[in-house]
Amino acid sequence: ATDPPEVFHWLPIIGSAISYGNDPLNFFFDCQKKYGDVFTFVLLGRKVTVALGSKGNNFVLGGKSTVFNAEDAYTHLTTPIFGKDVVYDVPNEVFMEQKKFVKVGLSTDNLRAYVGMIEDEILEFMNNDVNFKTYQMDDINEWGTFDVVKVMQEITILTASRTLQGKEVRENLNKSFAELYNDLDQGFTPLNFLFPNLPLESYRRRDRAHVKMSNFYVDIIKKRRAGHDDHEHDMIAALMQQKYRSGRPLTDKEIAHIMIAILMAGQHTSSATGSWALLHLAANPDVAEAVYKEQVEHFTGPDGKMRPLTYEELRNLPLLDSVIRETLRMHPPIHSIMRYVRDDVPVPPTLAAPSKDGVYIVPKGNYVLASPSISQMDPKVWKDADKWDPYRWNDSEGIAAQALKMYVDENGEKVDYGFGAVSKGTESPYQPFGAGKHRCIGEQFAYLQLGTLIATVIRHMELRIEKVPEHNYHTMITMPKHPRTISYRRRHF
Ligand code: HEM
Repeated sequence: ATDPPEVFHWLPIIGSAISYGNDPLNFFFDCQKKYGDVFTFVLLGRKVTVALGSKGNNFVLGGKSTVFNAEDAYTHLTTPIFGKDVVYDVPNEVFMEQKKFVKVGLSTDNLRAYVGMIEDEILEFMNNDVNFKTYQMDDINEWGTFDVVKVMQEITILTASRTLQGKEVRENLNKSFAELYNDLDQGFTPLNFLFPNLPLESYRRRDRAHVKMSNFYVDIIKKRRAGHDDHEHDMIAALMQQKYRSGRPLTDKEIAHIMIAILMAGQHTSSATGSWALLHLAANPDVAEAVYKEQVEHFTGPDGKMRPLTYEELRNLPLLDSVIRETLRMHPPIHSIMRYVRDDVPVPPTLAAPSKDGVYIVPKGNYVLASPSISQMDPKVWKDADKWDPYRWNDSEGIAAQALKMYVDENGEKVDYGFGAVSKGTESPYQPFGAGKHRCIGEQFAYLQLGTLIATVIRHMELRIEKVPEHNYHTMITMPKHPRTISYRRRHF
C-alpha cells in the first residue's frame, strides 16, 4: 500500500496553495491529467487528498463521518461565527438532530407561505431601491444598469429575513443588523479557514459581532417566550418547539446560534447562484424570453394580467427549474468540500490504484477533498460541458437526466424531475448540494427563493450583458468577477 501521488511543488510549506487558491478548478483538471482522479497536494502545511469524478465524490461524501470528519475540518472557521454548542462544535449525532429541527422550519407548509412574501419583497425592492432608478421612471424605453452581485446580496437577505429569519430580523435589517452581519461575514474567508487565529482587527470584529448577534437573537427569543407571540411560520418559532431525543428543549443560545448558521449558510450560496442565473439570462436573451413565455402561459388570468406566483405552480415550470439546475451545474457555490481524516483509509481500486494489485491509502492526519464542480463540468459526462444550456435538463433521455439516474437506479432511489429534485446519491456526478450525511437541507428553500426571484425579475424586465464574467475564487463562495453590470429595461405590458 502506498500514499496517493503527491502534486509537485517548489515551495515546501506553501505547496500548491497559490495555484489552488487562484483557480481550484483549473488546478484540479491539470492534476487530474497528470496524476489521475486521486492525488495529494500541500496547502500551507496541510496535506489534502483530492478525489475527483463521481467515484471520488462517493469516496469522500459517502465515507463514514467518524473517519472522514467534517467537525475537525470546519469548526475553527465556523464556531467563532455561529457560536458554541451547534453545528461543528458538537459531535455529529447532535448536529444531525439539529438538522432535523431546522427541517421542521422548512416544511412544505412554511415554504408555501413564503412564496408570496418573497415576491412582495422583490417587487418592493425593484420599486424603491436606488439600484433600480431607471425601472422606477416613466419612460420604459430607457435602459439602466445594476451590479448584479450587490443587488442579489440585498434581495437575498431581505427575502430570507422576511421568511426564515422572522419579522424582528426584517425590521432591524436597515439598522445595526446589517453591520453585524457584515463583520461576521468578514470572518468567513479563506484566510480564516487557513489561519484560525490571527491578531487582526477583522478577527476581533468578527468575535465582537458574534456576541452581539447572539444576544440579538436571544433577546428576540426571550420576548417571544414572554409575550406568547404568534410567529408560526418562521425558523425561530419552529426551533422553540423542538426537543432533543433526551427530551431536552433547545436553549436560547442554541437557537440563536443555529439562526446565525442558517443566515450564513443561505446568504452567499443563494446570492451567488441568483447572480450567475441572471448573468446567463442576460447573456442569452432567447432563453430569458422563453422563461418569460413560460410565465405568461402559466399565470395570465382571464383579465389578461399575470397572477402572483404560488408554490404549487412554481414547482411546475420546467424551464425555470432547468435554469436554476444548469446554473448550479456550472457554478456550484462551494468548489471544495473537505473532511479531516481520522484513520488510514484505503482508496477503492475502482477509483484509483498504484498498480493492478496495489491500493492507495489516505493516511490519518490528511484532509480529503471532493469537488463536485469537476464532475459537473466533465466532458465525458456532459455534452458541451462548458456551454450553459438549460434545455439539456428537459430531455428526460438526455445526458443530464442520465447523469442523475445513474446512481439513483443503482440505489433504487426515486427519480423525481420535479422542482428542486436532485439525486440524493453520493455517487452522482451532479451534486451542487453535496451528498451523504452532510447534504444540504436548504435546497428546497433555495429553489423557492431563486425561482421566485428569477420569475419576478424576468416578468418585469429585459436583461442584457455582453458576456458572462469569469469565476472569482478568492472568496469562500465562487463569485462572478467584475465587470458584472447588467443592463435592464422595463418590459412593455
Ligand atoms: C450543506 C450547498 C443553501 C443549509 C451544504 C453542502 C453544500 C451546500 C454543497 C454540503 C457541505 C459539506 O458536505 O461539507 C448549498 C447551495 C445552496 C445552499 C448550493 C443554495 C443555492 C442553503 C440554505 C440553507 C442551507 C438556504 C439554510 C436554510 C445547509 C446546512 C447544511 C448544508 C444546514 C449541512 C451541513 C452539514 O451537515 O455539515 N449546502 N446550500 N444551505 N447547507 Fe446548504
